[in-house]
Amino acid sequence: METEIFNAKTQKENGTQYAGRVIRQGGLVAFPTETVYGLGANGLDGEAVKRIFEAKGRPADNPLILHIAKKSDVKELWSHVPDNAKRLMDAFWPGPLTLIFVKSDIVPDEVTAGLSTVAVRMPEHRTALALIRAAGVPIAAPSANISGRPSPTTAEHVAADMDGRIDVILDGGPCEVGVESTVLTLVGKPTILRPGGITREMLEQVIGEVEVSPAVLHPLAEGEPAPSPGMKHKHYAPDAEVIVAVGSPRRAASIICREYEIEEAMGRTCVVLGTEQTRACYRGMNYDIIGDRDEPATLCAELFSALRRWSGKVDVIFAEGISEADQGLAYMNRLLRASGFTVLDK
Ligand code: TXA
Ligand code: MG
Repeated sequence: METEIFNAKTQKENGTQYAGRVIRQGGLVAFPTETVYGLGANGLDGEAVKRIFEAKGRPADNPLILHIAKKSDVKELWSHVPDNAKRLMDAFWPGPLTLIFVKSDIVPDEVTAGLSTVAVRMPEHRTALALIRAAGVPIAAPSANISGRPSPTTAEHVAADMDGRIDVILDGGPCEVGVESTVLTLVGKPTILRPGGITREMLEQVIGEVEVSPAVLHPLAEGEPAPSPGMKHKHYAPDAEVIVAVGSPRRAASIICREYEIEEAMGRTCVVLGTEQTRACYRGMNYDIIGDRDEPATLCAELFSALRRWSGKVDVIFAEGISEADQGLAYMNRLLRASGFTVLDK
């Protein structure tokens, strides 16, 4: 299959109208959102949705998010809209927040992997919203990467994984948030299953107490049931070993410097994903400053891009652990998973 690429800015009308038709006809379209690029299909067509799983090599038990362009469209997808959902939608939609609730009958089992709940979000990106409107149906979309790899934050990342496997890529430039949406289930006590740009602190201001699933920062124990199927699977792994050093900035940097030297002595090539605060610690080493520890959103925005930049180029990628407050929780969730929970604290 030949993959057609449209520039979402210069070929705006043509590109989105054409891509909307492709979706309606059962095809696959990669499109930009404010978080990461999505790989979309008609969310009401089970056969089209199956193609997403084939193109990504995604495990069939991992459900998808339905993307809508109008808040009221959620009514058709859920059994009903609970009060706390209404308040969250008013506060954060469009935006990087996915809400999970009991599904309605029109949602195919292929979307939910057989679960009785469905995840829905309204993205905050012109091209994403224009595409959903052009398609005229909710769009089922996971991140547009081969399963297990870092999520794509540019159209080039999408093409590297998906060229020849999908019909269309809409190129809207780099994604702003850089990590996938916050996933919050409203079945039972509101619980964050995956942290993202909308933080626990922000959610709590609107609906009161919100839990964070322990699996967000810790590996599941052998045989432990996953609150969200996505937690079971390998994630965000570049082609390099990822090692996280935790502690104060100084401590994390000194652990990295020591380990870097040991790896180099063994003939392994390394890079450090550093921060503004620790830049001076890595003088003379191969380092890549990806953001500011005091503004964890800057680190989120660059993490996947940095993992892809160094993937296959070095043997070891070192990164610093940061505080889990605010967007730090999303950063640590992705970083720990990318490392397979390889953490050094001394
Ligand atoms: O920002 C995003 O959310 C991006 C863009 C494209 O919108 N999408 C995305 O989709 O990250 P995906 O498929 O890569 O991640 C969806 C996550 C998975 O971990 C999945 O297991 C979980 O949401 N999920 C989806 N439906 C669920 C459900 N009914 N119950 C529990 N977890 C669910
Ligand atoms: Mg994904």
